[in-house]
Amino acid sequence: MNSPVKPINVFEYKALAQQDLSKMAWDYYASGAGDEVSLRENRAAFERWKLRPRMLVDVSQRDLSTQILGQFQQLPILIAPTAFQCLAHPEGEIATAKAAAKLGVGMVLSTMATKSIEEVADVSQQGNRWFQLYVHRDRGLTRALVERAYAKGYTAICLTVDAPLLGRREKDTRNQFALPAEMELANIATLKDLELPHKYGESGLFAYFAEQLDPGLTWKDVEWLQSLSPLPLAIKGILRDDDAVRAVEHGAKAVIVSNHGGRQLDGAIASIDALSEVVGAVGDKVEVLMDGGIRRGIDILKALALGAKAVLVGRPILWGLTVAGEMGVGHVLEILRDELDLAMALSGCAKLSDIDSSLVRYISCC
Ligand SMILES: Cc1cc2nc3c(=O)[nH]c(=O)nc-3n(C[C@H](O)[C@H](O)[C@H](O)COP(=O)(O)O)c2cc1C
Repeated sequence: MNSPVKPINVFEYKALAQQDLSKMAWDYYASGAGDEVSLRENRAAFERWKLRPRMLVDVSQRDLSTQILGQFQQLPILIAPTAFQCLAHPEGEIATAKAAAKLGVGMVLSTMATKSIEEVADVSQQGNRWFQLYVHRDRGLTRALVERAYAKGYTAICLTVDAPLLGRREKDTRNQFALPAEMELANIATLKDLELPHKYGESGLFAYFAEQLDPGLTWKDVEWLQSLSPLPLAIKGILRDDDAVRAVEHGAKAVIVSNHGGRQLDGAIASIDALSEVVGAVGDKVEVLMDGGIRRGIDILKALALGAKAVLVGRPILWGLTVAGEMGVGHVLEILRDELDLAMALSGCAKLSDIDSSLVRYISCC
């Protein structure tokens, strides 16, 4: 860490990360699609949900542990899948995985990782380690990704369904986003010599999605996907009750309410605002998780109060990784843990099961 002062919250990590990253990498990590309305809404919406704390409850002993898809976790947090972590730090996803394993939180490895399924598995044997899947037009390649994840002990497949094409991220277009020549798509380069993003002219990632991913994916393919391994399936990118019901009908064991951190369809509802609808539809059948805009322990408390079993955290992890590698990711997780712990104590909750919907109220205007 170059800064003499240790950050005390996630926003301070963000400010330091911005100083350290190239403009291209910063814009890629921080930006959203279009006018970034959904990106801003993910944060603004949290502020509209107000807490209704309970008083005079014994909170002298607190327990933040939980089970996600049958796996014990110290905290109700998973690290969201984010691509290209070597842009933040040379150890990339390896550093992230080590920190996650130490803190007892789950990690979701992106298809578009810069460290491979195998390298990440080798440094994080225990705990929830999920593999996030982008379904490629080449079904053989898609199958091989799932088989490799299963072989290396990943505990779930996380199918991202909100990206038939990449969102319109104008900063990436302006920067002609490309990976530096020394970085590669570690999971895919070994399987097939795909053209890597650094060979494209505009946003390399946009071009890659358009050429390689399958925009014809439907619910029928979800059944095919389930046949590839016995791993439970989590579907990421659900924002409506009817889609959540379909996900359950097609065998998903978890649903992740997400607008992809405001990076796909600009104008899409904030994840936290879509959560109750999805929980109401399927919360008694499968685990509902959410991501988008989690920056504080109180955000996690609100998400759990609205029925999430756990939250995923995206950008804050990249900021911690940029600033101090494994240590930075670990510290970001510790900050979120300590903030959640305090928020629970101040709300009269000693354990996660004490958190219920009466703790929050939606107040849309002053
Ligand atoms: C730089 C970056 C890369 C991402 N890459 C992926 C990805 O490869 N696969 C995926 O399913 N989601 C991806 N996401 C979306 C995240 O998984 C998650 O939904 C989002 O970051 C949550 O919002 P937050 O950043 O506000 O926490 C990415 C997000 C960011 C910021």
